[in-house]
Formats: sequence, C-alpha cells, structure tokens
Amino acid sequence: MLSILVGLSLGFALSLACLPIMSVCENPLSLFSEPFSSSFNSHFGNGTLSFSDRFDPFRILSRESRSVVDVTLVDYGSKDYEPQIHSPTLELNSNNKSFSTSTQSSNTSKVTRPRYIADELGIREKVLVAVLTEPHRLNTFAFFINQTLQDYVNRLLFFIDEDVQDFPRSMQVIAVHDKRAYLKPFYVLKYLAEKMIKLYDWFVLLPDNTYIRGFKLNEFLNHISISQDLYMGQAFDDVHAVYCYFGSGIILSGTVLRKILDEIDWCTNNAYSQDLTDNIGRCVLKAAKLPCTNTASNYKYTAYVNYRFEFDADIDRLSKNEDFNQTLTVHPINDLETMLKLQKYFNQVELDEMTTSIAEYEENIEELSCYAPEGCGNIPWPVGVPPPFKPPTRFDVLRWDFFNETHIYLKTDNDVISPMNGDDYEDVHEVIDHALEQLQKKYSVSLNLKKLLNGYRQFDPTRGTHYIMDLLLVDQDQIEYTKRVELMRPLGLVETVPMPFVTETTKIYLILPIYRDEQSVALRFLRHANKSLFDKETRDKFELHLAHIVTTKHELSQTQKWFDTLRREVELLRRTRTQLAVIYHTILLPLSTTTSYTQAAYILDFFETKLQTNSLIFITNPYVDIEADFLNRCRLNVIENVQAFFPIAFYQYQPHIIARTYHMTDNSTIDLHKSHGWFNFYAFDHIGMYMSDYLNLKKLSLSNNISLSSMTLYDLLVQVTDISILRAPDQALRVHYHPIKCDSIKRSYTLEYSRCLMQREKGLASRSQLAMIIIENEPTKKIIAKKNT
Ligand SMILES: *[C@@H]1O[C@H](CO)[C@@H](O)[C@H](O)[C@H]1NC(C)=O
Ligand SMILES: *[C@@H]1O[C@H](CO)[C@@H](O)[C@H](O)[C@H]1NC(C)=O
Ligand SMILES: *[C@@H]1O[C@H](CO)[C@@H](O)[C@H](O)[C@H]1NC(C)=O
Ligand SMILES: *[C@@H]1O[C@H](CO)[C@@H](O)[C@H](O)[C@H]1NC(C)=O
Ligand SMILES: *[C@@H]1O[C@H](CO)[C@@H](O)[C@H](O)[C@H]1NC(C)=O
Ligand SMILES: *[C@@H]1O[C@H](CO)[C@@H](O)[C@H](O)[C@H]1NC(C)=O
Ligand SMILES: *[C@@H]1O[C@H](CO)[C@@H](O)[C@H](O)[C@H]1NC(C)=O
Ligand SMILES: *[C@@H]1O[C@H](CO)[C@@H](O)[C@H](O)[C@H]1NC(C)=O
Ligand SMILES: *[C@@H]1O[C@H](CO)[C@@H](O)[C@H](O)[C@H]1NC(C)=O
Repeated sequence: MLSILVGLSLGFALSLACLPIMSVCENPLSLFSEPFSSSFNSHFGNGTLSFSDRFDPFRILSRESRSVVDVTLVDYGSKDYEPQIHSPTLELNSNNKSFSTSTQSSNTSKVTRPRYIADELGIREKVLVAVLTEPHRLNTFAFFINQTLQDYVNRLLFFIDEDVQDFPRSMQVIAVHDKRAYLKPFYVLKYLAEKMIKLYDWFVLLPDNTYIRGFKLNEFLNHISISQDLYMGQAFDDVHAVYCYFGSGIILSGTVLRKILDEIDWCTNNAYSQDLTDNIGRCVLKAAKLPCTNTASNYKYTAYVNYRFEFDADIDRLSKNEDFNQTLTVHPINDLETMLKLQKYFNQVELDEMTTSIAEYEENIEELSCYAPEGCGNIPWPVGVPPPFKPPTRFDVLRWDFFNETHIYLKTDNDVISPMNGDDYEDVHEVIDHALEQLQKKYSVSLNLKKLLNGYRQFDPTRGTHYIMDLLLVDQDQIEYTKRVELMRPLGLVETVPMPFVTETTKIYLILPIYRDEQSVALRFLRHANKSLFDKETRDKFELHLAHIVTTKHELSQTQKWFDTLRREVELLRRTRTQLAVIYHTILLPLSTTTSYTQAAYILDFFETKLQTNSLIFITNPYVDIEADFLNRCRLNVIENVQAFFPIAFYQYQPHIIARTYHMTDNSTIDLHKSHGWFNFYAFDHIGMYMSDYLNLKKLSLSNNISLSSMTLYDLLVQVTDISILRAPDQALRVHYHPIKCDSIKRSYTLEYSRCLMQREKGLASRSQLAMIIIENEPTKKIIAKKNT
C-alpha cells in the first residue's frame, strides 16, 4: 500500500515539476543574425571598417542558442539588485507580434506578459565566458575549456575569425569575419553588449591559452556584489598599470559592458595597438572611466603569468606558495598536457580545501553543541547527517539486518537466511574494506581481516544506511584482535528526474486473452468490470478487446459459436452501458512454440496491425478483478518511450483453504487480507506498455539476436532497452485463484521456471495455514502409523 502511494505521488510531483523546465527547452532557435547585422553595419559601415564579404559579420554556428529578442532591457543603474515588473510597453518595442495585436485592437491596454517569469522580473544568469580562439584550436584548447568550465559557468562562447565546421556540435562557436586580430575584442564586446547583456551579470573574456579554474571563478563571483561597475583582472606595474592584462582574463560587469557599447565607435577608431590589453583597457577607461582593479568585496583576483612556465619543473616550488593555490588563471599554456596537469593539480587543491573546511565545520558544530540544551557531546553521530529516525510507535521501529560475509538473515518476512548477492554483497564488502582501511590508518599496523563475526545493517530513510560490525583481525605476527566498528553511508542529494507529461485522458486498450476453458471466468470478469469499470469509462477513453486464444485450426472454425455466451452477456451490459466498446478477436497461437510467458508477445504481434502505434495497451488475464482507479494509474504510469508498467497483483489463495478459517460469505470478491492472498511479485503477466515501445523492443531484440519467444517481455525489456519499469504492488488488481502449471516451461527457460515454482509454492496458502492443515492431519497419521505396527 505504501509503495503505491509513494509511486503515485512521486509521479505527480515529477510531472508537475518538469513542466517549466520543458517549456524552456522549447525556446525557439536563435534569431541572432538578422536584427544584429543591420544595426552592426550602421555602426561600422562608415570608414573605419568595411566588409569585403556579403555575409553577416557574426554568424552563430551553434544551433543551441537561446532567443534574446523577446527579452526586455533592465537598467539596474547603481541600485542594488531588485526584481521589477516591466510595463508592457517595453515589450511592444521588441516584439513585433504583440505590437500588432495589443495596440491596434483596443486602447484598453491588454497586458501581454512575457513568456517566462525570468524575463518579467529581469532575472539573469550569473556568468558568460567568451573565449577568443582560432579555428584550428577549437578541437583542442577550446574543447578543453568547454569541458572543464561547462559545469561552473552558465554560458560559454568561442569566437573565431572564419567559418569552420569541424568542431564538437555542442560547443557554441561564433565567427567574426574580420582578419584584423586587434579589432576582434570589439566585435566580441559589441556582440556581448547587444545580445547577451540582458541575460548575464558577469562577462569574462580570455584567450584560449589561459588556464582558468571554474570552481574558483564561481566562488569568486558568488562573493562580489553585482551592484557595482567592475573592470577586473590583473594589472602590471608598468605604464599600463590601469589596464587589465588580457592574458589573465578580464571580468566585466554588465553595466560596464553597456557603457562600452555607447563608445564602441570611439574604441575601434582609437585602436592603434596590436595589443589587446591596451585596446580593451583604453576603451574601458574612456567608456566607464575605470582603471583595472584586482580587488572587489575583499576578494582578490590572482593570476599567475609566466612565459617560461614548465609544470613539472615549477610545480614543487609553486605549491609551497599559498598565492599560487589561490590563483584563478594561469597564462600562457602552450600545450594541452600542461592544461591537464594543471587541472589535476587544482582539483587536488580544491579537494584538500573542501576536506579541511568540512573538518572545520564539524569541529564548529561540536563546539556549538555545548550551548544546546542537550549539552556537549550529545549531537548525533556522524556530524552533519540528520539525526536518526525516532519511531513514533512500536510498529515503526526500523529493522536491523544481521549478516555475515556471505549470507543475510531474515532479509524479508518470508526468508530465514539467504545468500547475499549482487549489490548487497558489494555493499557489505565495500564497507568492510573501508573499515579495514580506517583501522590500519588509525593503528598504523598492517591488519588483515580474518572473519566478520557479526554484521548489522539498518536503513534509515532520513539519513542513510548504518552498519555495526565486529571484525576479527590478525596482524603480521598472527595476533588476533576483535574490533567493533560503526559506519554510516549517508544518503546522497535527492534529484528530480524530469519526466514527460502524461494525462488521465489517454485511451487505454485492455486486452483480455481467453482460453477455450475460460469462458465462465471471462463472464465473471465482465460482471465485475460492469460494477467497477464500465460506468466510469467512455468509448473514447477505453476499449475492451476480448481475444479468444485457440491452438488448432479446428477450433478456429468454431470460434463464432464460442463467443455466443460472451456476446449475450455483453449485449446485456450494453443495455445500461451504451458507452461500452467491446471488440472480439480470435488468435491462433502455434501450440508448439508458445508457452504462458511468450503469449504476450504473440498477442502484441497480432494487435500490431490492428491498433495504432501510439496506443496504450494493458494486457491481463480473465482471472483478475480490476477496480476503478486502476486504469487511471495505468495511464499515468505508462509513458511512451520512457516507462512500462508491470503492476504486482494480489493473488488469492486456494479458496477451500481460506474457507477453513474464514467464513467466506461472498466468494466473488477477494478481500485484501494476508490470509486471503498475497502480492505475487514472481509474476509478470500484467503488462502496461505502448505499442510503439513494443515495436521498438522487437527491433532491438532482432538486432541483438535475441528471440522474442526466449523470455518474458519483462526480461526482454530489461535486457535490451533502457526503458524504465515501474513495478509496485497494486491492490486494485486482484487475481482469483487458479492452479499454476509450470511443466511446459521447465527446460526452455530456467529463470521463469523457478519463478513459476515459487508461485506454485507460495500461491497455495500462507505458511501458517499450511501448518494448520499439517498439524490437524498429524494425529491421524500417528494413528495410522500405530495401527500398522
Ligand atoms: C559616413 O559616410 C558618409 C559617406 O560616405 C559621410 O557623408 C558621413 O559623414 C560619414 N559619417 C561618419 C560618422 O563618418
Ligand atoms: C513588423 O511589423 C511591421 C509593421 O507591422 C511589418 O511590416 C513587418 O513585416 C514586421 N516584421 C516582422 C519580422 O514580423
Ligand atoms: C488610443 O490612445 C491614443 C493615445 O494613447 C489616442 O490618441 C487614441 O485616440 C486612442 N484610441 C482610442 C480608440 O481610444
Ligand atoms: C560545451 O559546454 C556546453 C555548456 O556550456 C555543454 O552543453 C556542451 O555539452 C559542451 N560540449 C562539449 C563537447 O564538451
Ligand atoms: C597547495 O595545494 C597543494 C595541493 O593541495 C598542497 O599540497 C600545498 O601544501 C598547498 N600549498 C600551501 C602553501 O598551502
Ligand atoms: C554465513 O552464515 C551461513 C549460514 O549460517 C553459513 O552457511 C556461512 O558459511 C556463513 N559464512 C561465513 C563466511 O561464515
Ligand atoms: C451492470 O451494472 C448496472 C449498474 O450497476 C446494473 O444496472 C446492470 O444490471 C448490470 N448489468 C449486468 C448484466 O449485470
Ligand atoms: C462459490 O460460491 C458458489 C455459489 O455460492 C459455490 O457453488 C462455490 O462452490 C463457491 N466456491 C468456492 C470455492 O467456495
Ligand atoms: C544469432 O544466433 C544464432 C543462434 O543462436 C546463430 O546461429 C547466429 O549466427 C547469430 N547471428 C548473429 C548475427 O550473431
């Protein structure tokens, strides 16, 4: 019951949560080139620059860019960051469509809201990094920067000076059609100012031969205020002390970039130098009246510049220097190998920093705990992990599992002892190895595990898995020690997985295979469905397909007569249920090759041509009673291309055995009670999936050389597709008792055979019921035995 609830509510939450995410992705493709080129020409076309080619000076080669045309302009001035709502008039200027609709029609200003809340509030992302690179370095240096920075910055743009096609598609590359390298930064600045200024707070410019630490950059930008004009980088103590050295990277705030745009003509006209540092610096000085600064909000911009830098020779010396460990960029780097070495080195620095800061926090928490009501030393172990779950009643006490190296005891309610395999085994052995490692570190002797004496494991949903183990250890001199260790594997961060949107209006095709001798069972199914399903489902949401399964040609000819009883019943039902859609089929299954587990594939093959590929199908059997809410659950849980649904139904025990202890007044319904049945998780015969997913599965199995009739659909799905499968007990599916036959699958498919045997074993009655029968028969046996002696 609990898992049903969890599955369901999670399903809802996920589908709701992903809505806005999805719509952002649908953003129309870039509209960059068109409005930009015109304004560009009007600025540059006169005198200073002329374009020999007819192309737009910038062409965005990547197709991933987000449209900025419909985003409004916000002037923050020097005020602190405050979201504000824009009057709709601003929208009108930039958006031709809304102009025509909202002003022409009426004067009562109809507020056109921008598509995204972020646009309306002027929320921007943090940082854009613009890298000046060369076409032949796109696949090396630029690619390296893209790989190392992509997790830390919001946007990465690479500027080159001619069109090329040969680069990884997911990189955003922009071509500047001008051969004069010294003017390139102005193109870049102009591009950023016109296209990107509304989207980002910070702009970082750097050449591709600079190593930049994404982690540090992020940390740095998180600490400086966006309210100030900033022209930041590393200045050198010479005549150019007011300019930031381009090689070390330059950070500009959006406000400075806007000022640059106003003076961009002056800047291009006065770019005498071949040195980008000078050109950019002069422009910023003129436009924003700012010299280079290397400190903001008490954070210092540190860069390391060394034209003779050799990683292997210098790193020992440099690593002793705290400044180098704090550095943000290293310039220039002439080969990729050095880039990689630097990346490795700084990753280590960051790891060390984090480890020390975690230790500091832990110490701090321990110190502060003395001021808490519980007093010193009473904080739950380990520090920083939520406290253990306190069971409110005795029914909620979390279970501890006992295990040794190979076996686990009482893993489920039904098992006494079972071998640990797969993940359980790895889990336990990883924990043992870790404990051993820690013990060796602590006692600085080499210890070997001799035996795991006791192991206890508890999963706590609020914090993680808790282990207590008694280890028998031996050292080199064969002296034995027994140590008790306690370990915790905390839960990771919870992630939301975006899921496609599904609705409860999807049409469902319920397919009911009926064998020759199951006519009365099918009648019972229809009568129950009349009570629970038919009055809720309309013709456009639900279709029932009755499929008579025959195995011989002779039977096939008789099938019209066979359906008569069912037809009569359906006609009766139609008197009150005019919406009911029932369709009859006869399917001839080749007796020699079909077994119960491959039947579903044959049936789906049969319906392949009869139903559209986007139909949601639920195959079940006539023994089942389906309750009303189940079909909606099926509609939500089956997601085309993403998820198939194999609910775990409640199987009734042998009614005569139930009747021994429970007075069954009405044997047409099945009570959800542990003495009436069980959730049969060995069966995979209730299948909800889309036809298209089945066709896909068929194609994949063929290409993997796996025959569809060699295993169950479930096993096939698991083996060859990456569709996820939802499996949860569902109390709305209750299956009447019917004997299970396993012999036909005995040899062909051992996994399914063992599942079948389990079903036969557990499906008869509960252990206590069976025990009762044995005990009751015991005296008679003894008497018989005595008589015989
Ligand atoms: C632009 O060029 C036209 C003709 O070529 C000239 O008349 C005009 O003065 C120029 N403008 C600037 C700002 O140089
Ligand atoms: C913008 O509107 C004007 C006048 O309504 C129209 O001539 C022009 O084609 C429109 N442009 C676009 C891109 O829709
Ligand atoms: C719409 O407003 C404009 C000025 O805001 C005014 O000149 C015009 O007469 C108004 N039109 C109508 C139909 O009210
Ligand atoms: C480059 O970075 C972008 C994010 O800025 C990322 O989406 C893309 O996958 C990266 N491409 C490569 C080849 O690393
Ligand atoms: C710099 O970081 C390295 C790697 O974490 C470390 O070995 C070294 O001691 C650090 N240097 C200083 C001065 O802290
Ligand atoms: C674990 O316990 C089981 C059952 O008692 C036993 O058969 C097995 O040998 C034990 N494993 C080890 C490594 O002691
Ligand atoms: C089907 O259900 C309706 C309403 O519950 C009932 O009136 C009708 O008699 C039932 N039909 C049959 C054939 O049982
Ligand atoms: C179910 O009920 C019917 C009629 O009430 C009865 O004939 C039948 O034997 C019962 N079945 C079981 C298994 O009790
Ligand atoms: C597919 O499997 C069959 C028998 O299992 C084998 O004879 C055949 O060579 C296989 N084909 C491929 C392409 O692996």
